[in-house]
Amino acid sequence: STTAVIFGGPSPEHDISILTGLQCERVLTDAGQDVVPIYWGRTGGWHLVPNGGEAKDYVDGPPSGAKDVEPRLGAAAGFYAGGGLRGAKKIAVDAVLNCCHGGPGERGLLNGLLDLMGIPATGGPAGAAELGMDKLAFGTLLEAHGLPTLQRRAITPDTKDLPFGGPYIVKPRFGGSSIGIEVVEDLGTARDLVRAAPALRLGAVVEPFVKGAVDLNLGFRTWPHFSSSLLERPLRPEDGEIYDYKAKYLGGAGLVSAPREIPAKVDPAIEAEARELAETVATLTGIQGLCRVDFLVIDGVLHVNEINTIPGAMGLYLWPNEVSYAELLTGAVAEAVA
Ligand code: DAL
Ligand code: MG
Repeated sequence: STTAVIFGGPSPEHDISILTGLQCERVLTDAGQDVVPIYWGRTGGWHLVPNGGEAKDYVDGPPSGAKDVEPRLGAAAGFYAGGGLRGAKKIAVDAVLNCCHGGPGERGLLNGLLDLMGIPATGGPAGAAELGMDKLAFGTLLEAHGLPTLQRRAITPDTKDLPFGGPYIVKPRFGGSSIGIEVVEDLGTARDLVRAAPALRLGAVVEPFVKGAVDLNLGFRTWPHFSSSLLERPLRPEDGEIYDYKAKYLGGAGLVSAPREIPAKVDPAIEAEARELAETVATLTGIQGLCRVDFLVIDGVLHVNEINTIPGAMGLYLWPNEVSYAELLTGAVAEAVA
């Protein structure tokens, strides 16, 4: 059977998705799978690309050897080689491994489209993906179910007051990878930011900013049954106050270059609680596949921060033992097909 690996896409997280897509393509190809890599351009457009590519091949757009496909046909065209439907050779794709981060690729639009086309894909179901990318809806769901989380509210240039005091952290409502997040002291500054920042144009949320919170990340998979990965503690740069884009990706080598502790050395009770909360989050959202839940420990109390339905590198690095990367990826695809 043939698996298409789709990556890139119109999203601020485009570059990270290229790294995830290329890594997953390699893992599956090395495992003897038949893999068709499909690169979704920064501003749209679908390209069948050679197997075994490297990130540097994508610096100026699609790599050499890419075959463009009819852009207006959207995702459907991605499955036809040689320039769209006219005279094209149809590639039989049995399933899609969705490696998109952010934008329509992670937010359920791609999954919805593929679903209507009858092509099973990871990263869904579409509605669960949408929920996972919507920080306001997700935070509200957590609060409604009494799960420990920081209060989170929508903020616009007209927001008059908030049920919590500053300092605040303002985030793009549908963002990822910490792109566009800012810490501000007061509501006036938060409003000014929301008015002016391009990253917040689609919506913004605000939370109390707690200095000294400790990040913990936990991967989970839902197939063959729920199980969670090792617990990770990403280490913030000493002078940084938030675990931001720079800390996550610009530290040097690798996809997730921030130094981290795996397994995280934490109180076993915190770890057990994290595993339980991750399972609850999986149940409440209905998401499938390979995901990652991010937590904050504040004064010894665990808080759910968010879910990443298509985590960087698919979170493979969180599973060094027991199960191979190929098994994790083929398991996620098998779940989508089932
Ligand atoms: N959104 C990024 C890729 C992550 O959560 O890992
Ligand atoms: Mg995220």
